[in-house]
Amino acid sequence: MKQSCNISHKILVSLILVLLFNFFIYNGDFKQVANSIFLAKFRFPGNLEEDDEKVKLAPKDCDLFNGEWVFDNITHPLYKEHECEFLSEQVTCIKNGRWDSVYQNWRWQPRYCSLPKFQARILLEKLRGKRLMFVGDSLNRNQWESMVCLLHQSGNFTGKKSHEKSGSLVIFSIEEYNTTVEFYWAPFLVESNSDNPWRHSIKDRIIKPESIKNNGDDWKGVDYLIFNSYIWWMNTGHMKVLRGSFDVEPVGYVEIERHVAYYRVLKTWAKWVDENIDTKFTSVYFMSMSPTHINRSSDWDNPDGILCAKETLPMVNLSIPPPNVGTDHKIWRIAADVIQTMKVPVNYINITAMSEYRKDAHTSVYTTRQGQLPTPEQQADPATYADCIHWCLPGLPDTWNELLYTHIILHS
Ligand SMILES: *[C@@H]1O[C@H](CO)[C@@H](O)[C@H](O)[C@H]1NC(C)=O
Ligand SMILES: *[C@@H]1O[C@H](CO)[C@@H](O)[C@H](O)[C@H]1NC(C)=O
Ligand SMILES: *[C@@H]1O[C@H](CO)[C@@H](O)[C@H](O)[C@H]1NC(C)=O
Ligand SMILES: *[C@@H]1O[C@H](CO)[C@@H](O)[C@H](O)[C@H]1NC(C)=O
Ligand SMILES: *[C@@H]1O[C@H](CO)[C@@H](O)[C@H](O)[C@H]1NC(C)=O
Ligand SMILES: *[C@@H]1O[C@H](CO)[C@@H](O)[C@H](O)[C@H]1NC(C)=O
Repeated sequence: MKQSCNISHKILVSLILVLLFNFFIYNGDFKQVANSIFLAKFRFPGNLEEDDEKVKLAPKDCDLFNGEWVFDNITHPLYKEHECEFLSEQVTCIKNGRWDSVYQNWRWQPRYCSLPKFQARILLEKLRGKRLMFVGDSLNRNQWESMVCLLHQSGNFTGKKSHEKSGSLVIFSIEEYNTTVEFYWAPFLVESNSDNPWRHSIKDRIIKPESIKNNGDDWKGVDYLIFNSYIWWMNTGHMKVLRGSFDVEPVGYVEIERHVAYYRVLKTWAKWVDENIDTKFTSVYFMSMSPTHINRSSDWDNPDGILCAKETLPMVNLSIPPPNVGTDHKIWRIAADVIQTMKVPVNYINITAMSEYRKDAHTSVYTTRQGQLPTPEQQADPATYADCIHWCLPGLPDTWNELLYTHIILHS
């Protein structure tokens, strides 16, 4: 009896949630909304007739990050590499000579629910008249490129890429929807001597942990902000922190332990968000760390492997926890803890563990280095030249965007 009460209570609550959600989306016809409740899934309005599929939403309390990789070459990839003209040479692995493509065919299956089908036009409607911006390092740029292609495959707009702020900001504009999907280069979020997107191969990377305003001014007024910062912290155990000013030569610095510096930087970021974000207009997301597979491939039981270079399959055996690929999990904790203390709610997208399984999905030797494709000799020497940090597209970052998509249509 108690049990069934409980269940009907739950059903009632979900019905009300669906109702509210419908109501806010369509602001609309009550009868139609009421009807759709009995379908328990619902259709989007008439002008979306080409996507004539019911949208099944994941329940709000479903843990989307706990799940498994499922081979699915019917629904994935979500777009074709050669059909997205906006992909950079850094990520077009097939065009750059990769011979296997199964890495494109994996779908993320949460354990207790399913991700909704990515429907570009639904997201485009959400983004109409709005700006979405990824802020961070080249992994966030990877995800930005993915998002551009995911939207573009809806096929009914012409998009345009442009560079602003001497390249720190790349804007993909979709005039038909008065929407922009942007990427802002700020690998440490705070001010650093690596903020120039073209000249950041600097030996001594120096950060200014309490200075974010210059960058932050460019993030104001954006409707969806998606931050990340991880890979640039991983070069050394200590970070160089500016003493004095970047304008005075020689630039002075002190060295501070990585985690202490990361904490200081995230506190600066959190303060900026709390002081400058109006939650009525802006949703804030933070991507957890994108893992690398640059340690020995013996990490995942392939004694013949060379870094990630020979991997064509993810690790799919769920009885085995994600391998130790050298991810700094303390960074995960610091970000989670800082986000907990914030006034503005930040959606922390936990992509780390699910991505650790994806040793197959990196760009390896099918990518550019300093803008150049590798020579055949370099391609034959993955131990030196494989990039096991970034990801091919289509590929893993599309899944990150499926998660983002799910959050955006559910929560905003
Ligand atoms: C794209 O499709 C949407 C929904 O069908 C429609 O509202 C919009 O006008 C279309 N845009 C273009 C450029 O065709
Ligand atoms: C992140 O997600 C993974 C599953 O993909 C889960 O095992 C892990 O506990 C999550 N991390 C935290 C700290 O919640
Ligand atoms: C999907 O994979 C199966 C098994 O490898 C294969 O037989 C089939 O032809 C593939 N389908 C497509 C559309 O690639
Ligand atoms: C386009 O969107 C911007 C906000 O990004 C808004 O200020 C502007 O009024 C919109 N223009 C039109 C024509 O809707
Ligand atoms: C998965 O891992 C477990 C534990 O190591 C092992 O016993 C099992 O045989 C593996 N399953 C497959 C399908 O490889
Ligand atoms: C690399 O692999 C070794 C041996 O498997 C392991 O002990 C070490 O912790 C790994 N390094 C990192 C950075 O994880």
